[in-house]
Amino acid sequence: MAQFQKVASVSEIPAGTGKKVEVGGKKIAVINVGGSFAAIQECCPHRGGPLSEGLMQGCHVVCPWHAWTYDVTTGDRVGFPPGMGRIRTYSVRVEGDDICLEC
Ligand code: FES
Repeated sequence: MAQFQKVASVSEIPAGTGKKVEVGGKKIAVINVGGSFAAIQECCPHRGGPLSEGLMQGCHVVCPWHAWTYDVTTGDRVGFPPGMGRIRTYSVRVEGDDICLEC
């Protein structure tokens, strides 16, 4: 059975921003997409750019280093066939002010 662990508070991550967290040694970007939360791997697969610091455009995050763009809800790389260049996503649950990730 999946276990969820608190990693941040809703009030810490305003809409259109992200925060880097660590769970079980994994670096994860938690992102607020218009009041809903998504979680993706923190490190861009291109050269390791910090996706939690990327520019948000709707449900897309633009890597701050070289602008590769990902859909944070699916992990797909924007502009490529589904599954090609996909990054890891994580399940998120919000309980009150707590943002919890499946770990
Ligand atoms: S490190 Fe992300 S696009 Fe290059």
